[in-house]
Formats: sequence, C-alpha cells, structure tokens
Amino acid sequence: MTVTVHVEFAAKDAFRAVNRRDLIIVVDVLRSSSSIVSAFANGVEAVIPTVTLKEAFALREQHPDYLLAGERRGRKLRGFDFGNSPLEFVQEAVEGRTIVMTTTSGTGALVRCRGAERVLVGAFLNAEAVAKKAAEVAQSNGVNVSFVLAGEKGLFSFEDFLCSGSIAAGFSSDGFAFSDEALAAVLAFECAKDSLVGSVRKSRHARHLAELGSERDVEFSCVLNRFGLVPVYKDGKIVLM
Ligand code: MLT
Repeated sequence: MTVTVHVEFAAKDAFRAVNRRDLIIVVDVLRSSSSIVSAFANGVEAVIPTVTLKEAFALREQHPDYLLAGERRGRKLRGFDFGNSPLEFVQEAVEGRTIVMTTTSGTGALVRCRGAERVLVGAFLNAEAVAKKAAEVAQSNGVNVSFVLAGEKGLFSFEDFLCSGSIAAGFSSDGFAFSDEALAAVLAFECAKDSLVGSVRKSRHARHLAELGSERDVEFSCVLNRFGLVPVYKDGKIVLM
C-alpha cells in the first residue's frame, strides 16, 4: 500500500486525522514536544498531558508523587515543579517519575488526538527516530500518516511546519505519497536545514521566548536527531514506544 502523508496546520483540525484513522504525529517544537522528548531521554516513566490546570492539580491530589510541569504565556505556573523548558527535565529530577503536563497549545493538541489508535510525539530532537517508527507502523498496519501541528493559540507555527518536514523527509519516496502540504513542509525543511536555529529564531514564538530569556530552549529544541526515542500517547498517557 502507498502511505499518504497529510499535514494539519492547526490543532483544531486534529479531528480530521482522527477520523481518517491515520497514524498521527503531534508536533510542538517550542516547546512541549521538545520537553517531552527531553524528559524521556532523562528517564521519565510517563507524561500525562492535560488541557487545564485544574485537571493537573486534581491528578496530583490523587497521586501526590506525580510532578507538575507546564506554562501559560511561556511562564512557569505557581505550585508547579517545572515550567516548559526542555532543559529543566534533568535525570536527577525526573528519572522514574510521572509528570502531569499542561501547556498553552501543545498538550491540548495531544488531547485532541486521544481518539486515534496511534499517536507519536515528534520534535527536531527525535525526527529520524519518529520517521522510522511511523513508516514501520503505517506500512505494517496499512494506515496513512498525519502531522498535527500544535501551533500557538490556534495559529499556524513556522517551526512546527519545518519540523513536520524534517520528519517527512525521512520517509523514503518509495511507498509514500505526499500531500501538497507535506511536500511544502519537506521543501521548507530542505531550505532551512543548514541553519535550522537561525530560521526558527525568526518565528513568532521563538521571538516571544527570547523576550522571556528562554533563547537556550530554542537552540536546544533545534538540534536534529539528538535522541533516538519515540514517545507515544495512548490511553491518556505518553510512554516510550
Ligand atoms: C505550548 O504548548 O503552547 C508551548 O509549548 C508554549 C511554550 O513555549 O512553553
């Protein structure tokens, strides 16, 4: 079977990918996908994404050992253990733990995909590993692939688009058919890949993070293929595949 690759530019359209029964790759480069990948690279056991702070606090009340992570307007929340910087999730702090995470757009994008059977978390940090796993799973199960770009507050995000291109570029031309959106993402990535961080720094959200003093998060999140791991979202929890 030929696997068709779609890109949904806004999280609100995740339902299309869910209804098509596609394998979904959720991308929020700045910063929740990068934070999730970084947390798993440092030994976290599970990440539970929530939309609201209320849900996050309720989960912690039921499970006092859970850690809370997240942000609003890019800032760490009162009563939380972590903000949403991928640099915060160091081994000493997260190994073997479960983190409940709520962010402005990224965790909401994941939750919108909860009806799908196969949901992977993609970032520049794990692009190659995600491409390989998505290709394997899509081909062996006869399903298509959709990227769901988290964006920022419902808007298109350049960095998520580039990242979908970096992952799609890992699909071989044999056996894959790219939608026009996916083709554009791959071409954009090919143009930007030699100065990825320079390109991403120009994006709206990267500029906002720079204003908050979080430039290093942008640099870290733009390292390609630093980790060979693939987080999957299943039954309300993200775990390693
Ligand atoms: C989000 O989910 O909107 C982002 O991850 C925001 C951020 O940069 O922390």
